[in-house]
Order: sequence, then structure tokens, then C-alpha cells
Amino acid sequence: MNLHFTEEQQMVLETVRGFAEKEVKPVASKMDAASEFPHALVKGLGEMGLMGAFIPAEYGGSGMDLLTYILAMEEISKAWASLGVVMTVNNSLACDPINRFGTKAQKEKYLVPLAQGRLLGCYALTEPGAGSDAGGIATQARKDGGHYVLNGTKLFITNGKNADVAIVYAVTDPARGKKGISAFIVEKAFSGFVVGKIEDKMGLRGSDTAELIFQECRVPAENLLGVENEGFKIALATLDGGRIGIAAQALGIAQGCLEESLAYAKERKQFNRPIGDFQAIQNMLADMKTEIDAARLLTHRAAWSRHQGRLVTAIAAEAKLYASEMANRVAYKAVQVFGGYGFIKDFPVERFYRDARITTLYEGTSEVQRMVIARHLL
Ligand code: CAA
Repeated sequence: MNLHFTEEQQMVLETVRGFAEKEVKPVASKMDAASEFPHALVKGLGEMGLMGAFIPAEYGGSGMDLLTYILAMEEISKAWASLGVVMTVNNSLACDPINRFGTKAQKEKYLVPLAQGRLLGCYALTEPGAGSDAGGIATQARKDGGHYVLNGTKLFITNGKNADVAIVYAVTDPARGKKGISAFIVEKAFSGFVVGKIEDKMGLRGSDTAELIFQECRVPAENLLGVENEGFKIALATLDGGRIGIAAQALGIAQGCLEESLAYAKERKQFNRPIGDFQAIQNMLADMKTEIDAARLLTHRAAWSRHQGRLVTAIAAEAKLYASEMANRVAYKAVQVFGGYGFIKDFPVERFYRDARITTLYEGTSEVQRMVIARHLL
């Protein structure tokens, strides 16, 4: 697909591609197998300005447009989806809400180091009893003088173990249901903030997924993000952007599958010829390419529109729905092209296949994306 990128977009794309090829790809499978969090690579992303890619320069970011960021996300995820998710959570789920809803003081204190990659952020919404029904959270935040006191448990929090700062959603007015939820910027160092169970996952083994427990955790009132009781809207508006990031991650995984499959189809010989000579393999490669291009167009449309300041709730959901389902279909085909070797950990398609699976689940399942799209239609 030949979209015309600006000179700056092309330059960022080439720089990130170089970093991904040289620094990320060679270590990805080994670190993944060891479930090793990529501290040094995250530092590298920070040095390239990719941990606060679209945050204004005055708050420590690179001031890129959202499409440029999405191009970078795809390249990083193509090399290693675990690193991609660390990057998108920090950019879209931690930096972005502070940039959109934070005070100047909050931006100076938290956004600058997060965007520079000196601190790592996470987004703590999901709970054991509130996954798709995110408005049903039970974590409480009770006002006590100049503080809010948080009690509750968050589950499946990406970056939860390694993050320094969490955007935490909690109920400030239990009588008002989801209209009584507020958002808080919570430092890991605050007393009563404990990291619980670390999940052992099928994929994304280089990224940590943690339970976060709040036990009488005292958060200064000035760390309330946005307006009290309007936190659920902050959570959903934030996810509009996050879902575009996950669509880009899915694109990266799928593009990685296609490139590996193409190389293998040219090199692997059966019946005295490269398997790419067989129409059965050609059909799979052609379908992979077509679906990837379709997903890329949806994803770029959503990124471009959000950058223009438009409401992208439905088109971000479309991009995420299609790209994530597509990545799973493409990863399935990639393993098929590789035959038995696709099932073996020596080849990256085995990792792509496992990593693709989460993309239809987090930041809203495919079923939730369809709900969002249908509500906008009706
Ligand atoms: N932006 C701003 N406001 C929005 C909004 C948006 N995108 N979408 C809805 N709202 C507003 C609504 O207008 C409504 O406002 P009013 O009360 O004033 O009318 C309010 O928010 C509540 O909206 P709904 O009544 O539509 O909410 P709902 O309870 O029916 O839930 C939902 C809607 C789409 C199902 C939502 O709960 C949802 O997205 N669920 C999935 C949760 C999710 O994605 N979790 C991801 C966790 S993070 C993660 O996964 C990160 C990671 O690991 C990488």
C-alpha cells in the first residue's frame, strides 16, 4: 500500500524500523521465552521520543501527529508485540489522559517524566468483577480532608508491576453508579499501594500484567484527574485513543506474519519447488496482504481523525475490531504456511500466533467494539 507520508513521517518510520530490526528483533524471542520485561528497550524508546510521541514538546513529548505515532507502533509491534504494548499503554493510556484532562501542575509533575520515558505509566480500570462492564467497578475513593482514600483491587493491569504511576479509576459517589466514578493519578510509592499477583500468560510474555491492590491508599486531593465523578468519561475517551494503538499493534503482528511467510514460501522447497509456487500458499499470502491493507486503512483513518480533534469512538472501535480479528486470521495462516515448523518456538510465527490472541480481548473485547459501533449506528 502506498500511502503518501510526509518527509517527517517517513523519517520517523525509517528510524523506528532501524531500531526495531537492530535492537528489538534479535532479542524478542529469547526475552519472550524468559518472560523478561524489556527495561533497556523501553529506555531506548524513551530516548527516541516514543514514550510520549504525540505529547506536546512543552510537556516532555515529541509533538508528533497521531498517524506518525501509529506508524511507529506498528514497526515496534512487528518486531515484538510485548514492547509495543508497553509503549501504547504509556502513550495512550497514561500520558494522553493527563495531557487532555490534567492541570498544569499535574502535567509538569507527571506528564513530563512519563512522556520522556523517565517514568512508566499504567491504566487501572479493570477489576475482578468489572471487565467489559467497566462502569461496574467497586474500588472506592473516600474523601478525607486533603486526601482521597482508595480501597479495592484492580486486575489484568498492563505495566502494573513496572509502572511508577497509575491512572486509577474509583467510585467517589456510590449512589450514582458509573456517574460517580473519578480518575486519580496514583504514585506507586504512595502507602497502601501494593502489587499483587503477576499473571502467567499465553502471549505478550515480555510485558507484565499485574493485580494492583489499594488498602487505605492515601492520594492527595490535587491528584484527582479532571472533574470529580466524571472519571468514567475520561476512561472511555482515553480508550478511544488506546484502541487505535492496539489496532496498530495488531497490524504489526500481522505484517510480521506476512513478511516471515513470504520469506519462507520462497525458500522452503517441497515436491522439488518452493512452496510459494503452489496456488494454495499463494492464496493464503494474497488474503493476508489484502486484509492487512484493509486494517491499515481503517487504523490510519482513525488516527488521522483523532489528530484532527474529531470524535472517533466508533471508527476507533472499527479499526480495533477489524485489525485484531484480522491479526488472528493472518497468524493462523502464517503458521499454516510454515507447516510443522510454525508450531516450533524456533520461528517467530509461533510467538505472533500467541501474541495476536490478546488483541481481540484487551482494551475492549471484539464484542464490546461491536456494541460501540452498533450504538453509534442506531
Ligand atoms: N468518550 C467520552 N464519553 C463517552 C464515551 C467516549 N468514548 N463513550 C461513552 N461516553 C459517555 C456516554 O455518553 C455516557 O454519558 P452520559 O451518562 O452523560 O450519557 C457515559 O459515558 C457512559 O456511557 P455508557 O452508558 O455508554 O456506558 P456503558 O456502561 O454502557 O459502557 C462500554 C459502555 C462501551 C461497554 C464500556 O463499558 C467499555 O468500553 N467497556 C470495555 C472496557 C474496556 O475496554 N476495558 C479495557 C481495560 S484497559 C486495557 O485493557 C489496557 C491494556 O491492558 C492494554
